[in-house]
Amino acid sequence: MRKTHLVSGGCGFVGRNMVNRLFKNTEDRIIFVDDLSVGTDPSTWLDAPLQREDKNASFYGEGERLVFIKEDFRNTLHSLNNNKNHFQETYGMDFEKFADVFHFAAIVGGRAKIDGDPMMVALDLSIDAEFFYWVCRHKPARVLYPSSSAAYPVDLQTDTNAIALSESDIDFTRMGQPDMTYGWSKLTGEYLAHIAAKYYDISVTCIRPFSGYGEDQDLTYPVPAIAARAANKEEPFEVWGSGHQGRDFVHIDDVLDCTLLAMDKISDGTAINIGQGRLTSFLEIIDIFTDLAGYKPTIKPLLDKPVGVHSRYCNMDYVKETLGWEPKISIREGMRRVYEKAVENNK
Ligand SMILES: NC(=O)c1ccc[n+]([C@@H]2O[C@H](COP(=O)([O-])OP(=O)(O)OC[C@H]3O[C@@H](n4cnc5c(N)ncnc54)[C@H](O)[C@@H]3O)[C@@H](O)[C@H]2O)c1
Repeated sequence: MRKTHLVSGGCGFVGRNMVNRLFKNTEDRIIFVDDLSVGTDPSTWLDAPLQREDKNASFYGEGERLVFIKEDFRNTLHSLNNNKNHFQETYGMDFEKFADVFHFAAIVGGRAKIDGDPMMVALDLSIDAEFFYWVCRHKPARVLYPSSSAAYPVDLQTDTNAIALSESDIDFTRMGQPDMTYGWSKLTGEYLAHIAAKYYDISVTCIRPFSGYGEDQDLTYPVPAIAARAANKEEPFEVWGSGHQGRDFVHIDDVLDCTLLAMDKISDGTAINIGQGRLTSFLEIIDIFTDLAGYKPTIKPLLDKPVGVHSRYCNMDYVKETLGWEPKISIREGMRRVYEKAVENNK
């Protein structure tokens, strides 16, 4: 029988890329849930025709292999916790248990949201707590929990003390301070993942993606926003802060490759970095995009904008040693793809 996977937050940036990847690379059924608070309607990005609608579910593709459920994932979890056959009874689907469960539903929103409305971001704690409670009862075959580089101690990311962050820089017996409520919720999520693996025998993998980017990312994120402004030949070119602050940018295709490999090899809740292992400043990103656009602008720093930590990048040695994985898409190649999309969007 074909497998059935569950993707929460399946209409967000990472979620919709994963839904598309699973749809293309497997014959399995994919159920994805999103309240569309940020995510985009699947009819705009799914390469499969709508077959029918039933209550809040939309069925797409041959054999109705894709099922989108529009609701707050916490409501889905309440329904599942009250009735383990909720999906079967409500939508007439036939399956025993979920195979892979990818949990991407979260309030994220970039720097403006992380610093500007931290209590809203803290709602991630409630989404994750409900999620792990259900996981430990349902016992799906495998679980993916996306933590974040924001879980790392901020004192290792300052202008005078920035190191390539290694997985061991998060130590639950000696905690540092993570980045705002966003980082706290991710640390808590990682802790719950360990508990799920150790006490409930759940196969769970945690990833700490650094700055994931891609062609279809929301314009509230810096990479596509800078690409769009370069494509419009902005002059002078605005940058948040001095622009010397840096991140470890990694293309979404690499993030997905590494995630799926990690799920095959890690089941005890261990968290791994996903990045290039390289620090790139925002000024360098602007330089790449304006070079692609064929001009050299004057830089205008916006010093009142939130910039977060000064330097956040990772050490990828552990991933290379344990998974034998390295990113394939260079910064220049990834940014070229984003730039081409920005030019296309401008037409
Ligand atoms: N994009 C990255 O580079 C990156 C880096 C580190 C960690 N992550 C993590 O990966 C996950 C996905 O991130 P993203 O970049 O795709 O973010 P995103 O905001 O694009 O996607 C999150 C999705 O969850 C949905 N959502 C939010 N609350 C919900 C709720 N209560 N019920 C149902 N749906 C809900 C939103 O509508 C959105 O579609 C998050 O947990 C994020 O912390 C992402």
